[in-house]
Amino acid sequence: MAVTSSNLPSQPDWSPASWTLRPAEQQPTYRDAAALERVVAELSRLPPTVVSWEVDDLKRQIADAQQGRRFLLQGGDCAETFADCESGQIARKLKILLQMSLVLLHGLKKPVIRVGRFAGQYAKPRSADTETRDGLTLPSYRGDLVNRPGFTAAEREPDPELLLRGYERAALTLNFIRALVDGGFADLHHPEYWDLGFVHHSPLRDQYRQLVASISDSLDFYEAMSGNRVHEASRAPFYASHEALHLLYEQAQTRFLPRRSRWYNLSTHLPWIGMRTAKLDGAHVEYCRGISNPVGVKVGPSMGADWVQGLCEVLNPEREPGRLVLIHRMGAGHIESKLPPLIDAVRATGVPVLWVCDPMHGNTESTRSGLKTRRFDNIVSELESAFRIHAQLGSYLGGVHFELTGEDVTECTGGARGLADGDLARDYRSQVDPRLNYEQALELAMRIAALARAT
Ligand code: PEP
Ligand code: CO
Repeated sequence: MAVTSSNLPSQPDWSPASWTLRPAEQQPTYRDAAALERVVAELSRLPPTVVSWEVDDLKRQIADAQQGRRFLLQGGDCAETFADCESGQIARKLKILLQMSLVLLHGLKKPVIRVGRFAGQYAKPRSADTETRDGLTLPSYRGDLVNRPGFTAAEREPDPELLLRGYERAALTLNFIRALVDGGFADLHHPEYWDLGFVHHSPLRDQYRQLVASISDSLDFYEAMSGNRVHEASRAPFYASHEALHLLYEQAQTRFLPRRSRWYNLSTHLPWIGMRTAKLDGAHVEYCRGISNPVGVKVGPSMGADWVQGLCEVLNPEREPGRLVLIHRMGAGHIESKLPPLIDAVRATGVPVLWVCDPMHGNTESTRSGLKTRRFDNIVSELESAFRIHAQLGSYLGGVHFELTGEDVTECTGGARGLADGDLARDYRSQVDPRLNYEQALELAMRIAALARAT
């Protein structure tokens, strides 16, 4: 095929590997370069886990959310593990996301875009490359995509084969989610499918039941009046997202679609850049600049107006609607001073963005016994500030980003059941950040619905 301007990649100075010319943080060091090369070559040949028209659909929905017409709910584990790739846990994660989206739909009166932190959330940034215990220093655990959490030299050795195992787990997860959604699991006509059991004894039971009844009544009423079934109520998909951290994994799953004349990362719908790897001249920004997916960037309290304006220009020079999602994670104590100048600075660029609040990552602390936790009240406080600040500045907070699980874990304190520091040891499972349990997650959705109505 002749190369014409219509089939050239949209960015001539970019390629899926151009990031290798930039400083790449948080990448593992593999001992066996030949094995790594083999794995990356194999990953590049395997079929994609998502397709470009789904990615484009999500981009259109994000563009709609930027106009205030939709709301984005993004949530899931801090890090998925290969061991947790099993039907019960995946189904429970979908159930809690569905229950939350139902509460948000009811409260906000807007369609909710459902995005899971799943099917690829296997690599983690770490504050140090190594960890030392009793005089022994080993590589840090960087997620199941890279190595294993056990503190032995064998388990901590980065293993290229794990990239293939991660791709397979991601595909298995998405395959199951797609089948569930196709089978009617997410159908708003049947919220009873999402019963997590706890509703029977939860302090939130009555509120949740009333809300489900009210949505069922509204659907019945509309369908009886119009003679049409509300189609979107049964078919709305889940989208996948993960942190685009391990750049060889992302590069290998980046494909050029000649018909669209564009590159797509087809390992996920919505990749995001973590706060630790968001440097303007860094490898992660370089990689994400050239793909057509919508891209998220975490924005933390150390990022000033110039930096965030630079990200807008580099990641969305064409000012394309739906392309850029800014996920601020300031912490309850910083948001009041740090967020307003950034909202103004982004507005001054004219680059359209979807603002999303992650009230988890700025509110991590350690208990006296050394467990990482987050306090429910701080999470609510950051959300409350976020809604108010955006409203005061005439901006729109169009989504929320949570670390949560469909399990009854004890990792974050507070909430309707009043979990205290002393309760955390009962069922603390996370290897990385503390997640909301299902009850705390549902309660937060109820708080958000109330906050959004009030602003
Ligand atoms: C995360 O989302 O798990 C994460 C590491 O976030 P951040 O980059 O915002 O610290
Ligand atoms: Co995390």
